[in-house]
Amino acid sequence: MQLSDKAFKLVSEHLKDHQKRLTHILGVNEMAVYLAKKYDVDLDIAGSAALMHDYSKYDSYEEASKYLTKEELEECYKYPFMLHAYLSAYKYKELISDNKDSFNAIYNHVFGRPNMSILEKIIMISDYTEKNRTYPDCIEVRKILLDGDLDLAIYESLVRTIKHCEGEGKVAHPRQLEVLKEYEERIKNR
Ligand SMILES: [Fe+2]
Ligand SMILES: [Fe+2]
Repeated sequence: MQLSDKAFKLVSEHLKDHQKRLTHILGVNEMAVYLAKKYDVDLDIAGSAALMHDYSKYDSYEEASKYLTKEELEECYKYPFMLHAYLSAYKYKELISDNKDSFNAIYNHVFGRPNMSILEKIIMISDYTEKNRTYPDCIEVRKILLDGDLDLAIYESLVRTIKHCEGEGKVAHPRQLEVLKEYEERIKNR
């Protein structure tokens, strides 16, 4: 578990003043490794991506401007919650490995993207369902996931996240709606 060991050391140091966030990250790691075993994904790749997914949660816009493209930065003005996902992905590439699948999984962990790989699905849903998440919505989706229905769990997490977003008066990201549509179709057509 070379990459995961490295990721664990880096994130523990970087977020040493954010113990609650670290607890969440360890929960995501645990769920991601469980799912990686179940769906036959490389454990070290999955674990290292999980450990780094929120690495840049508290990093500044200025730090992000050293890594993100102009288009990405503009997008983050409109959707600030994307900033930590994009920057964490670039940090993974710089500090851990140039594995493209992990990069994408971290980059898209907030709500996925159309045509996700299995690793991308794992990181996204582990973030929503890790054991320290105690909202009823997360508990319900965790049950669906642990019952073995990964696609339904993703669909239900999207429905709930979008509803939550709208409840707070925020606009859903267009890509989020595309992913919702894809999974709606998947569930309907099986
Ligand atoms: Fe995140
Ligand atoms: Fe997270």
